[in-house]
Amino acid sequence: MRPEPEAAITGRPGLLVFDHAAEAAAHVGQIIADTLNRTPHTVLGLATGMTMLPVYEWLLTAKRDGRLSFSQATSFNLDEYIGLGAAHRASFATAMRRMLFDGSDFAPGRTHLPAGTTIDLDKEAARYEAAIRAAGGIDLQLLGIGRNGHIGFNEPGSAFDSTTRVVTLTEATRLANRGDFPGSQDVPRQAITMGIGTILRSWRIVLLATGSAKAAAVAHAWSGVPGPSCPASALQGHAAALFVCDRDAAAGISDWQHGGGSR
Ligand code: F6R
Repeated sequence: MRPEPEAAITGRPGLLVFDHAAEAAAHVGQIIADTLNRTPHTVLGLATGMTMLPVYEWLLTAKRDGRLSFSQATSFNLDEYIGLGAAHRASFATAMRRMLFDGSDFAPGRTHLPAGTTIDLDKEAARYEAAIRAAGGIDLQLLGIGRNGHIGFNEPGSAFDSTTRVVTLTEATRLANRGDFPGSQDVPRQAITMGIGTILRSWRIVLLATGSAKAAAVAHAWSGVPGPSCPASALQGHAAALFVCDRDAAAGISDWQHGGGSR
């Protein structure tokens, strides 16, 4: 049984704005915890990136306190760099182990990331897409947003019906992600990512955005003309999507409601 979507089916996503980033992250943590408690075998779609760190910290604290368990859940991450093995210090697989998996009680084999070192990457992309479908699809997809509006590694120009595939990263994204690498030239040029179409097939979607660097992307995603120049604007067509922001990330939006209600 899939969980019931929390957001009312209004034909538009919801938007919650919190005063502080920590409150926004805690709210997202609470949504995930409530979902797992209601439906322990939930299929989660997970993201990496700095925005997610406080969410995963919140979840691990809740797990330690006995307020949630991942033991029956399954997860699929959005993306992985091409050329980095799961053990590479800068791979998303390593980031996920460090941020969440090592401290969690996911059952062995239940956490999935695309393999960035497979010889036939197109085959790996198709395998990953099929694995998501075979699991019944994503019940709750967690998203961050790039400064250029990317979701997963779907950079501007990505088709809204795209599926899991190999993509080339923009220089802006490589620069934004250079922190995990010795130098910006070491950031891989390609990645394998769930497509926008893959993401849109999720039953529920929660996008978390914090900080002023995300304000322009969030404003376009929320109320700009939807189109490939801002991949996150595809979420405007998903009635069970929820944007959770802090005030800085929501600065370009006027019609928001304070955290605790939903539009
Ligand atoms: C990574 C991912 C990306 C990030 C985005 C924001 O798995 O899906 O779309 O969510 O690049 O990254 P941060 O949170 O580091 O600003």
